[in-house]
Amino acid sequence: ISAPVIALDGPSASGKGTVASMVAAQLGYHYLDSGALYRLTALAALRAGVALDDAPRVAALAAALPARFENGRVFLNEDDVTDAIRTEEASAGASRVAVLADVRAALLARQRAWRRFPGLVADGRDMGSVVFPSATVKVFLTASAEARAERRYKQLIEKGSAANMPALLHDLQARDERDAQRSEAPLRQCEDALQVDTTLMDIAEAVNAVMAIVEEKL
Ligand code: C5P
Repeated sequence: ISAPVIALDGPSASGKGTVASMVAAQLGYHYLDSGALYRLTALAALRAGVALDDAPRVAALAAALPARFENGRVFLNEDDVTDAIRTEEASAGASRVAVLADVRAALLARQRAWRRFPGLVADGRDMGSVVFPSATVKVFLTASAEARAERRYKQLIEKGSAANMPALLHDLQARDERDAQRSEAPLRQCEDALQVDTTLMDIAEAVNAVMAIVEEKL
């Protein structure tokens, strides 16, 4: 018998990451941030001067990714890249390398290895559809594009960064479009996933909504 998996999929800036890590903490489960693997792959390619559409070379980087997750920080070799993988450049790069079938295949085993007892909460785009089709619980977390852009806007302002609402909304919609239209593991809600729309929820409410589903299914 394998460890239970809670698959949390949805579009960018839907609050998946925050909600997934809080649900994992409440349950005492492991937490896989699969988007970080695509971000790390993009960063590794950018740093190595490899073109983001050079499938064989990017896939080779993904297969040998010297990545480590430790206490909420992410490392490439000894380099703490927790912030570097969150820049706009790395975000856009991640969604570009994520269209490559060879890259997705190279990251598959690494993702599945996270399934360990007592259980796993995995967040991404294809956790329920491709990586863990036998997941115990599948949740599709979404929110309107405007609500998602506004959350990102507030995060940036809080960090003291410059932010432009129309540009943020535009970038978000471009990324959604690329994630939904690609042929490899496109972002879509699985038939057996339950939707949680967080447009009108704060983080605590979103966590409670997901926990209610989890408790019913576990
Ligand atoms: O979730 P996050 O925004 O960190 O993901 C970054 C990018 O990685 C997404 O825009 C998407 O293109 C890609 N991704 C993916 N499959 C996943 C997780 C992320 O294609 N399971």
